[in-house]
Amino acid sequence: MSPKIRVAIAGASGITGSSVMNALLATPEIFEVTALVRPSSLGKDVFVEYPQRGLVIKADELDGPAGVIAQVLAGIDVIISCMTLRQMEEEITLITAAYEAGVSRYVPSFFGPGCPPRGVMLAREMKEDMLDHVKRLYLPYTIIDVGWWYQLSLPPLPSGNVRAKEELSTTQIVGDGTNPWALVDNRDIGNEMWTQIDVYESWGGVTGESITRNLITNKEILQIISEGEAEMAHGDLESAAMLKLGMAQYKYLLGIRGDNTPEHAKSPVLF
Ligand SMILES: NC(=O)c1ccc[n+]([C@@H]2O[C@H](COP(=O)([O-])OP(=O)(O)OC[C@H]3O[C@@H](n4cnc5c(N)ncnc54)[C@H](OP(=O)(O)O)[C@@H]3O)[C@@H](O)[C@H]2O)c1
Repeated sequence: MSPKIRVAIAGASGITGSSVMNALLATPEIFEVTALVRPSSLGKDVFVEYPQRGLVIKADELDGPAGVIAQVLAGIDVIISCMTLRQMEEEITLITAAYEAGVSRYVPSFFGPGCPPRGVMLAREMKEDMLDHVKRLYLPYTIIDVGWWYQLSLPPLPSGNVRAKEELSTTQIVGDGTNPWALVDNRDIGNEMWTQIDVYESWGGVTGESITRNLITNKEILQIISEGEAEMAHGDLESAAMLKLGMAQYKYLLGIRGDNTPEHAKSPVLF
């Protein structure tokens, strides 16, 4: 029998991380799964319950010296990061530690829509900056573009039965809404191409509700991007400016440019 592949996940309690962790734990004959957990999160239900499913827990702060984290990673074959850009510094340290520990493959926290590396989205550029660090170390890597979560795609219902976080979701129809883009269920990896108009029609049909169509034009999005870029000169990752800029850039990418397709995600991802 082949030895198990030892996979460590950073951000295992998160939405993406728990999806990845559940999938790996479902095949215990192939994978030994370790969660890298910051000590303050050890009491979370998932870390109390999942050891019964075979999850190994390793507690450590990821902002410590890379050499110390490398010791925690001893014996790990693959690291999958599912942290967010707010943990970019921790992820850079984790990459260094992965290299020092001799990890065979690193999967950085991309898990976004298909997007060119530079010049379109700040969030993608920051992820590419992390990837540059991986490349500088000649650490073998895989990046995974999954598409746009359909959980962020359904508009709120007039009845209030389903709500949506306006600031996070593409609840406005971009342009004329006929640009198809790849939607993924965040519990899964496969995706389907949908236009916003089709999503609204299907959603209205299933719920029997008449859903208001709020439109945003190309010109309006570009105006918000330009304002967001100016505001970000004084903002940081936690700022309202980052959210404003990020969501406008997502809308532009998805609804106007049309980058988020399986074809674009199929550009070489293995190194
Ligand atoms: N394709 C899409 O539509 C889409 C949508 C949303 C997100 N994403 C992408 O998916 C990836 C993950 O995002 P998410 O929304 O799944 O994340 P999330 O649910 O917010 O989870 C973040 C994870 O990071 C961990 N974490 C936070 N601070 C940490 C620290 N200092 N040290 C170690 N771990 C820390 C959290 O662990 P604890 O708090 O338990 O410690 C949690 O497990 C990102 O790359 C994001 O851009 C894609």
